[in-house]
Amino acid sequence: MAQPQQRPAKGVVRFYNFLPEGDSFLDEVLTGLARQQKTLPPKYFYDARGCELFERICTLPEYYPTRTELAIMREHAGAMATFLGPDCQLIEFGSGSSTKTRILIERLQPPLYLPIDIAGEAIREAAAGLARAFPWLNINGVCADYTRPLTLPEFAGVPIRRKAVYFPGSTIGNFTPHESVEFLKRARRMVGPGGALLIGVDLKKDKRLLDAAYDDAAGVTAAFNLNLLARINRELGGDFQLRRFRHKAFYDEAKGRIEMHLESLASQFAHVGGERFRFRAGETIHTEISCKYGIEEFQAVAQRAGFAPEQTWIDAAKRFSVHGMIAK
Ligand code: AVI
Repeated sequence: MAQPQQRPAKGVVRFYNFLPEGDSFLDEVLTGLARQQKTLPPKYFYDARGCELFERICTLPEYYPTRTELAIMREHAGAMATFLGPDCQLIEFGSGSSTKTRILIERLQPPLYLPIDIAGEAIREAAAGLARAFPWLNINGVCADYTRPLTLPEFAGVPIRRKAVYFPGSTIGNFTPHESVEFLKRARRMVGPGGALLIGVDLKKDKRLLDAAYDDAAGVTAAFNLNLLARINRELGGDFQLRRFRHKAFYDEAKGRIEMHLESLASQFAHVGGERFRFRAGETIHTEISCKYGIEEFQAVAQRAGFAPEQTWIDAAKRFSVHGMIAK
C-alpha cells in the first residue's frame, strides 16, 4: 500500500462548473439528426433519469462489466495503490457514483481527488458520500464535458508526487479507437511525463453474452436508450413519440463493438428546435458504440497516445481488464 504523508483531519471540498452556457445540447441534437445516418451523442444519456437507469443497468444480471470490474478492484486495489505510489493526485473521468473509486481511495489515500463528470448532481452526491467516508480527503469536483479540452482547477498546499487519471467502467469503449487515442493524449498532457493512467477496459468475448448485456430481459437498457428521446422532449420541446421507436443493440464482431440504435417503427416526423426530421420505417438513430478490446489491442491504442503499459489486472473468466500505464 502507498505510504501517504499525514492527511489533514478535515479535507476541503470545492465544486467547479465548467459546462458551457447556452445550447450545446440543442446544437448537437440538430447536427446529429441532420446526418444521413442520424446520430445522438451518448453523453446526453446522463440526465437525472438517465443516471438512475444507468445505476440499474450496472446491477443487471446480464450486465457483467460493473460487477467484474468491482471484483478486480477489490482483489487488486492494494497492488494498484502501490503502482500509483504515495501522494498521488487522483483525477477521475466520468466519476458518476464513484463506487469503484472508494475502493481505490481507501488503499491509495490520495491527498487530492478530482472527480469530473457531465452530471453535476451525481458529482455533488458522490463527493458528499466520499467526504463522509474519508473526512481527510480534499476534493475538487468538476462538472464538465471531459470529451473536450479542459484545464483543471489548481489546489494549492498539498504535496503531489504524481498525477494519475482513473477512468473506470470501460467508458473509453464509448469512443472509437481514433477518438480514444486523442482523448488519452489529453489525459497524458493532464498528468505530465511520469504521470499514471489506471483504466478499465471491457474485453472481446462471446457475441451472445455481449448482445444480452446491452439488451437485457427487464428492458432497463431499452428504457435508458429511449430516455434520450424523452430528454429531448423534456428539455428541448421535442415531440418524439417514444412508442414509435424501439431499442436495438447488437455486437458487431467485425468492428469489435456494440452498437446501440433507436429504430423508427413507422414512417413519421419529429420536431426539435423548430426543425422537422423525417424517419422512414426501420431507419435508426445511432446513439452509442461500446468498443471491446483484446489486451494487446488496447495497449497499442494507449501507446499511440504516449502511455507505456506496465501492469494489467484481469478476472479469471477474462471478461474485463484494468490497465496501469505510465505517461512517456
Ligand atoms: C458507460 N458505458 C461504459 C456503458 C457501456 O457499457 O458502454 C454505457 C451503457 N450503454 C448501455 N449499457 C451501458
